[in-house]
Amino acid sequence: MTLTLNSPLDMHLHVRDNDMLKTVAPLSSNSFASAIIMPNLVPPVTTIKALQEYKQRIIRSTCRDNFTPLMTLFFKSDYSYEFLKEAKKYIAALKLYPSGITTNSEGGVSSMDIDGLKDTFEAMSELEIPLLVHGETNGFVMDREKEFSSVYEQFAKNFPKLKIVMEHITTKHSASLLDKYENLYATITLHHLYITLDDVAGGMLSPHLFCKPIAKRPEDREALLKLALSANPKVMFGSDSAPHPQDKKECCGCAAGVFTAPIALQALAQLFERHGKLKNLQAFVSDNAQKIYNFKPIDKKVTLEKKEFIVPNSYGSVVPMFAGEKLLWSIKNAL
Ligand code: DOR
Ligand code: ZN
Repeated sequence: MTLTLNSPLDMHLHVRDNDMLKTVAPLSSNSFASAIIMPNLVPPVTTIKALQEYKQRIIRSTCRDNFTPLMTLFFKSDYSYEFLKEAKKYIAALKLYPSGITTNSEGGVSSMDIDGLKDTFEAMSELEIPLLVHGETNGFVMDREKEFSSVYEQFAKNFPKLKIVMEHITTKHSASLLDKYENLYATITLHHLYITLDDVAGGMLSPHLFCKPIAKRPEDREALLKLALSANPKVMFGSDSAPHPQDKKECCGCAAGVFTAPIALQALAQLFERHGKLKNLQAFVSDNAQKIYNFKPIDKKVTLEKKEFIVPNSYGSVVPMFAGEKLLWSIKNAL
């Protein structure tokens, strides 16, 4: 059995820089047509020059694969209208991080006070630049996303023309907001469709499954599965594949991030097949995102086949999700 996906897209991806970039970029570019690239480098990507140079480094690392990096700038509330107007030519979106909430987000927004963000949000609404949000407070770890929901609601209500993407949602409550506000959308990762907190910390600790937002309860995972498997038009696949070297994961002070880029499509096919929903995978991994972002990706056909794939123990220094385990689908070719 085979399944051909047209232009699969990863709408939330970390490819880092330097040697790590060279290791991980080809693992996305060989099976995806395009990806939204996160700007949380050190320092974060905040200028058009840095963004263009980063884009070139990504393209050089993708081994001439047919692949388009869609760039984002790290959200700052002091970007002027003129700057954003110019930036619009080079970016797909701005990514807002609450300050210090996750890897390399120290320069993020320190208060979600709407008055301080108003001018930027108005400019983005007018210029039709989507706002991507890491929606967590710094409260109790299991409640951070739920606590942030009032911020999402305020943003959505006050800026009805602003397209807001709730990145990597992990809760039933976030899922419920999609029906409430026309201008709210969401990405869902592979790992949050597969795991709950039990897989991270319920038995032996699994550092390679530790990420932010942390995986939640079974009913939360069910709500995400329902959205993804039904290919709800307001959700898109965004892997949030976030590589860290093995020694930064298997240590005290484990870095947050699950590395899924090279196994994402295979594991998604396995999941959608298990639930009898393979026909909805195309919408979840490409069509919905094209409509939400209003863009046409390059043409790339990725064929998966129902053939065992043993996930490598590592890719360079990075350990992927399902390392050493067997997946039921593999990638046959990408043309
Ligand atoms: O687990 C995560 N890792 N969550 C994020 O938001 C950032 C990411 C990273 O950059 O490592
Ligand atoms: Zn991320």
